[in-house]
Amino acid sequence: MSHLMNTYARQPVAFVRGEGVWLWDEAGKKYLDALAGIAVNTLGYGHPKLKKALLDRVNSGILHTSNLWRIPDQEKAADRVAEITGLDEVFFCNSGLEATEASIKVARKYGHDRGVAEPAIIVMEKAFHGRSLATLSATGSRKVQAGFEPLVQGFVRVPLNDLDAVRQVAEHNKNVVAVLVEPIQGEGGINVARMEYLRGLKEICERKEWLFISDEVQCGLGRTGKWFVYQHAGFQPDVVALAKGLASGVPVGACVVGGRAKGVFKPGNHGSTFGGNPLAMIAVVTTIDTIKDEGLLANAARVGTLIQESLRDQFDTTLAEIRGMGLMIGVELGQPCGELVRQALEAGLVINVTADNVVRLLPPLVMSEAEGRMVVERLAPLVRAFVERATPATAAAR
Ligand SMILES: Cc1ncc(COP(=O)(O)O)c(C=O)c1O
Repeated sequence: MSHLMNTYARQPVAFVRGEGVWLWDEAGKKYLDALAGIAVNTLGYGHPKLKKALLDRVNSGILHTSNLWRIPDQEKAADRVAEITGLDEVFFCNSGLEATEASIKVARKYGHDRGVAEPAIIVMEKAFHGRSLATLSATGSRKVQAGFEPLVQGFVRVPLNDLDAVRQVAEHNKNVVAVLVEPIQGEGGINVARMEYLRGLKEICERKEWLFISDEVQCGLGRTGKWFVYQHAGFQPDVVALAKGLASGVPVGACVVGGRAKGVFKPGNHGSTFGGNPLAMIAVVTTIDTIKDEGLLANAARVGTLIQESLRDQFDTTLAEIRGMGLMIGVELGQPCGELVRQALEAGLVINVTADNVVRLLPPLVMSEAEGRMVVERLAPLVRAFVERATPATAAAR
């Protein structure tokens, strides 16, 4: 019997080797990876530049010093993150929840600095921000919250893509100091915020002097064809939360601030023992440099469009709704479809199902067009068979 705490319903497969977008299990079976460890393995597996950078770091003998000292690679990583976000100050941590938790703290401190004693943050239905007490309270899922009450106070929830709901809160709630939004909800089922909605939200933030916080832990770092989704909408947020793909497999997170949020945190306001450690930092620098050197933003846009279009060609919108941007893709089916994960593994394809009925694809950004076509070739027959089993009459009529 395993001594692991029972927090995950795991598939009975262990991947032991990887190269590019390919994985091998213990029995030597080969899989095409369309999930990247849930949007983490940006550069795929065994990328020579990342391997070399990490080996050099290990060979230097130093994996950790402390934030009590200067960490040159942390300074380099912060320069890179500031450049791609267009923001000013970077706090490095180790995970997505830490990045969003830090963002929530920045918003509260910003409120207190302006004399708001009980600052509130607008959050979205179906959002996911993490599993610490504050971030699960900000999360719009009862499943994530149940059993952990009392929740952290100070969040006001509205539906995504509904500007009027935000306007109403703006009119009646004087405690609001920030809006926290995932521009593409990942765990919630690949729900894409409309660009005009994001711009409208930003306008309200400007008018009310609220912070605009973009949680790009899952959708950021090049996956949509630009570094960040707010760049598609054409404005700068005040705070961005990052993690997952930022170091291509090495645990890292970042809370990045600019605009009204610049300078809110002072020495002593926040900290992390491991945050910004030399091992993670060289992985951040190498990941960002490699995305640039290898043109992976354009690649994500190209291969993502190819996958989305070929799925749309194959499925009528009444059977499967294809949503997403670039290499962040959801296929919503009419019924809970968790069984597709196991069926895909049998067919040599790694996928995930989220929000019960959405097949989620988050491939490494190094996926080629030929590999993108193979994802569709392996996935489409499984989805077709599932839909036919689930709704024989509707499917037969197509
Ligand atoms: C948008 C978003 N924010 C925050 C998190 C939390 O990240 P972590 O699991 O690294 O704590 C996730 C994880 O899925 C996420 O998708």
